[in-house]
Amino acid sequence: MVKAVVAGAAGGIGQPLSLLLKLCPHVSDLALYDVVNSPGVATDLSHICTTGAVNGYLPDDNGMQKAFTGAGIVVIPAGIPRKPGMTRDDLFKINAGIVRDLIKGVASYCPDAFVLVISNPVNSTVPIAAQVLREAGVFNPRKLFGVTTLDVVRAQTFTAAVVDGDAKQGGNPESFKVPVVGGHSGDTIVPLLSLAEPAVTLTDAQREALTHRIQFGGDEVVQAKNGAGSATLSMAYAGYRFAHALLEAACAGKTSVEPSFVYLPGVPGGEQVKDQVGTDFFAIPVQLGPNGVEKVVSPLDKISNYEKGLLETAIKGLQGNIEKGIAFHKL
Ligand code: NAI
Repeated sequence: MVKAVVAGAAGGIGQPLSLLLKLCPHVSDLALYDVVNSPGVATDLSHICTTGAVNGYLPDDNGMQKAFTGAGIVVIPAGIPRKPGMTRDDLFKINAGIVRDLIKGVASYCPDAFVLVISNPVNSTVPIAAQVLREAGVFNPRKLFGVTTLDVVRAQTFTAAVVDGDAKQGGNPESFKVPVVGGHSGDTIVPLLSLAEPAVTLTDAQREALTHRIQFGGDEVVQAKNGAGSATLSMAYAGYRFAHALLEAACAGKTSVEPSFVYLPGVPGGEQVKDQVGTDFFAIPVQLGPNGVEKVVSPLDKISNYEKGLLETAIKGLQGNIEKGIAFHKL
């Protein structure tokens, strides 16, 4: 069992994510860190009758040190979310500094922990995290993850909705597996519908509409919330799904394959993907094991011509996002 930290625990994602982690059998100790209200959230969750302590920490009185020390996994949904009309890149100014400072805490107090970055723009905040960890001499690329699981979750749900009503293809979202690669914003998100399991048959128009919906699904939530933020509950589900898969591998020896945004040159099998895509960071299915990424399980050799076109566009956008993150914390 491990100590888990949620940094940004009082927020829209942080609260339901903390709830789910309170239910996780692999978490012995849940530390909720935020600049506001984390003691309140912790006290509330501490009344739930599952094993494992819950404590809330604020920045004063060495709260970050107390929260992070001894952690095996740190999940970071701290930072501002989008409002209508904003792209994820618009969040960079504020969230880049927040992520940098939290990762400094990881480097100082729990350098061996798995680090799951949810704060947007993930395409840039993960490179920032890598830079900070590298500077501190504790960068283990097998343990640093940009959480792109919500793209995978949306791909499953939206694909099922398209083939729903077609008796042969079925419409149960849980039964679909759709790999999603690239990055985590707009057209850097590349759903590989040609590799869906079970296979789905789509017209060209359906494939284009579905691809667009997966890429820009976050906008549906931002618009519907009308100024009150972006996806929180579906994101908490997705963040938990990834954290749980990782903890199942680390604590119970049950490996699985999940896409995540990782530093390619530092993970087994990543160099080959880097040769194909040309970027250092990329979302790609990875096999999870006790030490994090066991190996990359790349589907790139099998993708369709349509997806090759999407990939080309994605790489252009991704490259700039990554450079922006690296430039923010130059070594
Ligand atoms: P929110 O505003 O509801 O919550 C953010 C929390 O972070 C607040 O409680 C705030 O006090 C806290 N915070 C701010 N600065 C902090 C610091 N220095 N240390 C600790 N905590 C700090 O925002 P929400 O909706 O929970 O979103 C959080 C982030 O997650 C945003 O950047 C959003 O864009 C991102 N996001 C990522 C997704 C993904 O797929 N990776 C999907 C949806 C949102």
